[in-house]
Amino acid sequence: MQEKKSIHGAWASRWIFILAATGSAVGLGNIWKFPYIAGENGGGAFVLVYLVCILMVGVPIMMAEVFIGRRGRQSPINAMKDVAIEANHSGKWSFVGWMGVLAGFMIFSFYSVVAGWVLYYIAGMGTGDFIAIGSDDAGKVFNDLLADPQTLLIWHTIFVAMVMVVIVGGVKKGLENAVKLLMPALFILLLIMLGYSMQTEGFSQGFDFLFHFDFSELSWNAVLIALGHSFFTLSLGMGAIMAYGSYMPKKTSIGGSVITIAAMDTIVALIAGLVIFPIVFANGMDPGAGPGLMFVTLPVAFGQMPGGQIFGFVFFLLVGIAAWTSAISLIEPAAAWLVEKFGWSRVPACIVLGLVVWGLGIAALGSFNFISDFKMMGFNVFDFLDFMTANVMLPLGGLFIAIFAGWFVTRKMAEDELAISSPLLFNAWYIAL
Ligand code: PFF
Repeated sequence: MQEKKSIHGAWASRWIFILAATGSAVGLGNIWKFPYIAGENGGGAFVLVYLVCILMVGVPIMMAEVFIGRRGRQSPINAMKDVAIEANHSGKWSFVGWMGVLAGFMIFSFYSVVAGWVLYYIAGMGTGDFIAIGSDDAGKVFNDLLADPQTLLIWHTIFVAMVMVVIVGGVKKGLENAVKLLMPALFILLLIMLGYSMQTEGFSQGFDFLFHFDFSELSWNAVLIALGHSFFTLSLGMGAIMAYGSYMPKKTSIGGSVITIAAMDTIVALIAGLVIFPIVFANGMDPGAGPGLMFVTLPVAFGQMPGGQIFGFVFFLLVGIAAWTSAISLIEPAAAWLVEKFGWSRVPACIVLGLVVWGLGIAALGSFNFISDFKMMGFNVFDFLDFMTANVMLPLGGLFIAIFAGWFVTRKMAEDELAISSPLLFNAWYIAL
């Protein structure tokens, strides 16, 4: 078969693909969500289940996504359609791409609100607002922020603009340049933070908390949370990785790249835990504080430590960068589709998408103030979006992708694209699906 090319361009090398996909994977999920859900679910045993989910479910599905994307060389909607047709099945498989675009919008709308909090904290840390702050006051700063739709709107708007500025540049000038600059910065900042936390008195306690496997604390619900989070953290089940795969050079190993990405994502989550929990324990605070862990507990801890202002600033900057490179991948599939479908340039596509996600974000930020009484299935809008995407839509999308790649695509196509030389490994992938 003659090789297809993407009209959007291609990554310069395999490493750029790995960097971009790692940028998508490493985000608020690793630094904000993973530590607090691990904290709420007892630590060690939860971490172990999470690692098993990454390896047994996440890696095989990510390989499937990359392979479908690279085979189809288009946005997930069109790639699913074309690959299905190539395998003599209905083009209606494009619904998986559609569900992904919807999930991307839904995730973006609450993601951008949290990223907005992060930007607010970067500014607050930088100007010394949290020096020697007590936990009541830190709680008040966070609650006052949540209660103030105008401030939330400003930061949400800035974040949407930051994301659109990258997407408008397209694959090469936008995405590739952004990840080349931001990902090394992210790793350096993370190592600085790890060095800092290793010097605190709480380090061994934090380490124990993450790696002491006590199964009596583990519930079924925790297993489900770990499974859902493994999709969220690897950006699976919604086409983000499929879109990035469609820009991947042909002659590069999918399996090796995916394992590298999953390993880097996992290492960042574990390091984030090793940064956060020691600081929490060194200050005698509660690891199970929930979503406020990063925004209330940590600032108090930083406020009391030597050099806390600088390191607090570095920490939130790191989180902001991580959120930025992830948010890009939430919108890229929809942007690529608009360009393919209507022949638009990226400018109108980004204006339309920017307005859509900006508007949706307003509903998410209103959950904490002007529409706090509005409930769906017992959740406010923000929690509903989080729950529906991480625990329902992404696992469902992942399931469809697994069924599609394992049962509908021909084995020959999969063998061609994955080019795994060991039959044993290929079969292991197939069976995992
Ligand atoms: N993986 C991101 C994180 O852990 O924060 C979140 C995410 C990005 C999920 C992109 C899904 C996605 F398509």
